[in-house]
Amino acid sequence: MSGDGRVFTLGEVSKHSSNQDCWIVIDGKVYDVTKFLDDHPGGDDVILTSTGKDATDDFEDVGHSSTAKAMLDEYYVGDIDSSTVPTKTKFVPPPPPKQTESNQKQSSELVIKILQFLVPLLILGLALGIRSYTKTPSS
Ligand code: HEM
Repeated sequence: MSGDGRVFTLGEVSKHSSNQDCWIVIDGKVYDVTKFLDDHPGGDDVILTSTGKDATDDFEDVGHSSTAKAMLDEYYVGDIDSSTVPTKTKFVPPPPPKQTESNQKQSSELVIKILQFLVPLLILGLALGIRSYTKTPSS
């Protein structure tokens, strides 16, 4: 580790976005991974496309091993000034549409139709059951 408590803005980090000089931001920390680019099992281009922004999600989404995470320490150069990083806009799914009165009515009509079909069947089944239960075996 060689951070020395340095704090960088995202603008400063963005200046290091080439394969000769490559910094990335993960979990609020800045890493100079220039020397690692050639050794990266995923190739250098995936790291290069994660420069100039918060790369935490890109790094996590791959499911890097704990070994990979531990390797980060070696490349630590400082922290990011979080006020310079745009806040993430999380996708919030829209609330499900409220059941309107008309489709509530539709669903109760459907239940009635199902019952109209099931009740006679149940009665028939019950009758057959009773019949076979009470039937004396013919000799
Ligand atoms: C945000 C930038 C990064 C992206 C998008 C990324 C992407 C990937 C991808 C796609 C693989 C899978 C390669 C394969 O299976 O063929 C991989 C593997 C790996 N990466 Fe990264 N990587 C990033 C940064 C880093 C950094 C900074 C390190 C370490 C200093 C690292 C260490 C490793 C290691 C060790 C593997 C092998 C598998 C493992 O142990 O998890 N990566 N990476």
